[in-house]
Amino acid sequence: MNNLFAKMPVSRLIATAEGGEHKLKRTLGPMSLISLGIGAIIGAGLFSLTGIAAAENAGPAVVLSFAIAAFGCAFAGMCYSELATMIPVSGSAYTYTYATMGDFIAWIIGWDVVLEYAVASACVAVSWSRYVGSFLQTFGIAIPPQFAACPFDTITLANGLQGHGIINLPAIFIILAVSIVLMIGISESSWVNTVIVIIKLAVVVTFIAVGYHYIKPENYTPFIPPNTGTFGEFGWSGVMRAAGVIFFAYVGFDTVSTAAQESRNPKRDVPIGIIGSLVICTILYLAFAYVLTGMVNYQAMRGDAAPVATAINLTPYPWLQLLIKFGIICGFTSVILVLLLGQSRVFFAMSRDGLLPKLFSDIHPKWKTPWRSNILFMVFISFFAGFLPISKLGHMTSIGTLLAFVIVCIGVIVMRKTQPDIARPYRVPFVPLFPILGILSCLGMMTSLDKDTWIRLVVWLGIGMVIYFAYSRHHSHLNNK
Ligand code: ALA
Repeated sequence: MNNLFAKMPVSRLIATAEGGEHKLKRTLGPMSLISLGIGAIIGAGLFSLTGIAAAENAGPAVVLSFAIAAFGCAFAGMCYSELATMIPVSGSAYTYTYATMGDFIAWIIGWDVVLEYAVASACVAVSWSRYVGSFLQTFGIAIPPQFAACPFDTITLANGLQGHGIINLPAIFIILAVSIVLMIGISESSWVNTVIVIIKLAVVVTFIAVGYHYIKPENYTPFIPPNTGTFGEFGWSGVMRAAGVIFFAYVGFDTVSTAAQESRNPKRDVPIGIIGSLVICTILYLAFAYVLTGMVNYQAMRGDAAPVATAINLTPYPWLQLLIKFGIICGFTSVILVLLLGQSRVFFAMSRDGLLPKLFSDIHPKWKTPWRSNILFMVFISFFAGFLPISKLGHMTSIGTLLAFVIVCIGVIVMRKTQPDIARPYRVPFVPLFPILGILSCLGMMTSLDKDTWIRLVVWLGIGMVIYFAYSRHHSHLNNK
């Protein structure tokens, strides 16, 4: 039993990452890290789920849901920063848990984070496919609907009849394309990411600036629609559930910490990257949600996966709609890029520690990337993107991420007690109060999510347990020192 909780000294963890065959290139500065964060954060959560959460759960009070989710993220972001600067190696939450709580809990969190990134990128790919379809339609190009939807989606066929999708080919296409960019190397992909982030910010700011003039004040009444009698359908329980749903929109700032080992000066730049990207996105989200729910009545957004297009239609600028759709498509591409990058880095770290076969931490001699794990996940995520519906993928991402945040907040408290003397270039203020507030707000959002999402999380963790006890435990470097 003791073996399950064996830990690796932090100094050795850093030394292992600093030298030897697993070394990654250190190329990222503070702006690249903020851009990496924003690249992962603003995406399908904002452009698709804001409208859906307003229509189904919170009404215009979805603005409050964004504030609640930001509250939880702020505490988790501080905890990530403390741990990332203390242990500036690849692997994020997984690595911190490895150092603080041993390889058993680290396995759970690593497995959970892999789920988070993999499923989130599949979810954004599905949304990407919708916006691309709608963009191409403007030019008279129609993708056959059964090849742009999964078997769980109901679609309207060319003959007007209702049917089901077969496979979401555009979603698979974007996963393949981004995976190939990543395999070629982080410098190139970081540059591409920065350009895309600029376009994405321009879209959000333009939407807010133009849309503000088309707000109808009556759309804000009632601000919190009364509860229908069912938990999560309006009223305060609806605001809470919407926070759990749109939490997806904040997923991604943690990817900044997965790149700590590729950062030039992780001690200073990683907190700037995490907290900077979180602050910028929170301000934009609150303004965006306020403008969107002011332009379009929340009831009119039910089932609308592209509410931004609907809102922009209300303005007398058709060209703007085209530009905004184009920007959104680019934005989604960068989200997928950063999520896949983070995901392959976590897998890399797990393999480096012996919890997964060594072939996943072998670095390509020329590209300097863990290309084998890129290939594995390219196949795995393509399957998710091609055959699963967006809502399920979104909820799974939120619950997986919230669990990771809870464990990271616990990690800060544990490390302060067990390793009080290690240098902490960034310290969370008011420990244990702030981490505890992070834990409580994330648990609150987790409990507001539906039962099926919980069951899927438990099943995924169960599969992880089987792999851990069958393989990882016997190969873990901690248990074989
Ligand atoms: N936060 C990312 C998005 O909203 C995952 O697409």
